[in-house]
Amino acid sequence: MTTRRLVLSRSAALLSAASTGLLLPAIARAQPGKLRVGLMLPYTGTFAQLGVAIENGFRMALDENGGKLGGREVEFFKVDDESNPAKGVENASTLVQRDKVDVLVGTVHSGVQMGIQKVARDTGVLSLIPNAGVHAATRALCAPNVFRTSFTNGQPTLALGKPMVDKGHKKAVWITWKYAAGDEAFEGFKEGYLKAGGTIVKELSLPFPNVEFQALLTEIASIKPDAVACFFAGGGAAKFIRDYAAAGLKDKIPLYGSGFLTEGVLEAAGPAAEGIVTTMHYSDSLDTPRNKAFRLAYAKAFKAQPDVYAVQGYDTGLLLIQGANAVKGDLTNKKALYAAMEGATIDSPRGKWTMSPQHNPVQDIYLRVVKDKENKVLGVAAKSLADPGTGCKMA
Ligand code: PHB
Repeated sequence: MTTRRLVLSRSAALLSAASTGLLLPAIARAQPGKLRVGLMLPYTGTFAQLGVAIENGFRMALDENGGKLGGREVEFFKVDDESNPAKGVENASTLVQRDKVDVLVGTVHSGVQMGIQKVARDTGVLSLIPNAGVHAATRALCAPNVFRTSFTNGQPTLALGKPMVDKGHKKAVWITWKYAAGDEAFEGFKEGYLKAGGTIVKELSLPFPNVEFQALLTEIASIKPDAVACFFAGGGAAKFIRDYAAAGLKDKIPLYGSGFLTEGVLEAAGPAAEGIVTTMHYSDSLDTPRNKAFRLAYAKAFKAQPDVYAVQGYDTGLLLIQGANAVKGDLTNKKALYAAMEGATIDSPRGKWTMSPQHNPVQDIYLRVVKDKENKVLGVAAKSLADPGTGCKMA
């Protein structure tokens, strides 16, 4: 009641101000100063380097655009989400309510993303997902103000089964962290592998972000499958690759993965990573002028090699630039903003991609192999792959 009365009396004051011309300076300020960008990413823990790569890529896209969005300067607000789902809602709320961000960019971890999704749906803040693949965000819980520039968890692994079976690897063990990203990566893997004629003989898992793989590796050795397929990422992926080789499995049972397994970890994993075959919507070695220019510029700016996370961060920047330009920096013009982002074609280092009606990339998935510390492309495993977007009803 108090709030309502306050709003009414404010608008009454505005009306009288308008009639006397006093509102003019306020209108001039309607194109307010800086556009407030919230970055909610992991900067500590097993996904820390993923968060850094995403931020680097995002900033690089903005820098290439003169540091501006729709003509406006940008101010950043950052939160380390620690890949902790229990703090997801609280961290997202801090950026939206306290820092009053115009757009929230985040995050990596699917469980934390569910917190952001809740806040995005409750407040209507523009939410750009630069990694987390949780299906619900662009399926049953999709929203007009939520756009993903990365993948759904089932997308990269959907195309993994066929090349495995083509190699004669028909009986596989699946292993992952037990949480949404691992479970949903498995959904994609299962669908593709069974369709190709493969059999999954065992599903193994451990809680996120545990890295005590020894007992599970011993179990794999005793099962003796034709191959192992997995989802791991970040620091945990590097350790899994090393432990798999140290357990003597590398030359006996080929290891396949959702491509995150070999992203950003090739220095840390060393020779143990060589020869691992994965599927992913990016490859270091894509031989296009766009990818080469991106890789060169990123290496120069950050003294590090870019990976898929850097590409996703970069593409998040490209998408936001397209949206902000279309509304000349006025992100409150939601209809035009969303229309521009829905219709965008992103000229990405991964190759051009478009937005599905549910706001997830329609993109090529590449088959890759690790060679000389690089994810080398072997071919296209799935062309223009779209997530089914099941259950999405845009409000
Ligand atoms: C996720 O939790 O959705 C996730 C995390 C790391 C990845 C991919 C997906 O590399």
